[in-house]
Formats: sequence, structure tokens, C-alpha cells
Amino acid sequence: MARVVNAAFSRYQWYSPITVRDYANYLGYIEKRYKTLYLLAWSPSGELAGYLQAYINPNLAEGFSGYIEEVAVDPRYQGHGLGSSLVVKTARRLYNETRHVYLNSVRGLEGFYEKLGFAIVDETVYYEASLTLFPERAVTVYTG
Ligand SMILES: CC(C)(COP(=O)(O)OP(=O)(O)OC[C@H]1O[C@@H](n2cnc3c(N)ncnc32)[C@H](O)[C@@H]1OP(=O)(O)O)[C@@H](O)C(=O)NCCC(=O)NCCS
Repeated sequence: MARVVNAAFSRYQWYSPITVRDYANYLGYIEKRYKTLYLLAWSPSGELAGYLQAYINPNLAEGFSGYIEEVAVDPRYQGHGLGSSLVVKTARRLYNETRHVYLNSVRGLEGFYEKLGFAIVDETVYYEASLTLFPERAVTVYTG
């Protein structure tokens, strides 16, 4: 999973690769707190091609809400509908248990999520500790 995440996010200048150990710790942290859902997509040769991680967060607006935390498709498998399929399948699953589905998106993917039926509900700008603005890192919150 860490390999796919690193490969997918390497396109962003602000991204620093995560180690397998740190990623496992991070997933452990989420799993301890929330009901977590993983969706994995495999290539015909049995390689992990795409990955989505989501969870049910009882503290988001409107009470229990589904939250899509990570979507990553190995660059070699992008552009074939895998990313859309992971998001749509997960949103359907989450709607079985929640009334709302949220996610934070990097800038530039608004069109991708809007096509899948999401709409922007809030916009936030992140600042680094140095207070240097990273516009590419600004996130947009969506709900389906
Ligand atoms: C975003 C991502 C998951 C999409 O995966 P994918 O398998 O390539 O997506 P799809 O093939 O389902 O693409 C569906 C549509 O979205 C568009 N799209 C895909 N990636 C896009 C991008 N980075 N920017 C804008 N549009 C994008 C495609 O052009 C396609 O449009 P079309 O239907 O008109 O052809 C993949 O590009 C990725 O892993 N990106 C890096 C990590 C990332 O940004 N994750 C999301 C964080 S919020």
C-alpha cells in the first residue's frame, strides 16, 4: 500500500515518501479509533494497482459520516477508470451505514470528484509550520 501511495503521490512537489513502517503505524492508529474500510484493486499479474482507505467517523458534521481518507492508483494503471471505480464502490458501501460521505481532495481534482457526484462544501488552506503557504496543498472538502 505504501508503495502505491508513494508512486501515486510522487507527482506532487510537496509530497515526501512515507516508509512502510510509518504507514503501518498510521493505519494502526486509524483502525484503533474508527471502523476502517479498504478497497484494493489488483492488476492481472497480481500486483497492487490501486488502493482506497476509508473509515466511519462519528465526529464529523451530521453525526456518523463516511470519510474517504486515501485514494491512490499506481501511475502505470491510471486513466483506466480504476480511481473512479474505487471511489464510487466505497461511497456506495459507506452510504449503507452513513448519511454523508466526505473526503479531502488535493487541488486540481475537483473535476474528478464532481464527475462522480461530489460537491464542494468547504475550502481550507493549509499552512506549513513555517507559515509558508503551499497553495497546491490546499484541500477541498466534499460531500456526496
Ligand atoms: C486521482 C487518481 C486516484 C485517479 O485515478 P485513475 O485511475 O487515473 O482515475 P480514472 O481513470 O477513474 O479517471 C477518471 C477521470 O478523472 C480524470 N483524472 C484522473 N486523474 C486526474 C488528475 N490528477 N487531475 C484531473 N483529472 C484527473 C481522468 O482524466 C478521467 O477523466 P475522463 O473520464 O474524462 O477520462 C490518480 O490519478 C492518483 O492516484 N493520483 C495521485 C494521488 C491522488 O491525487 N489521490 C487523490 C488524493 S485526494
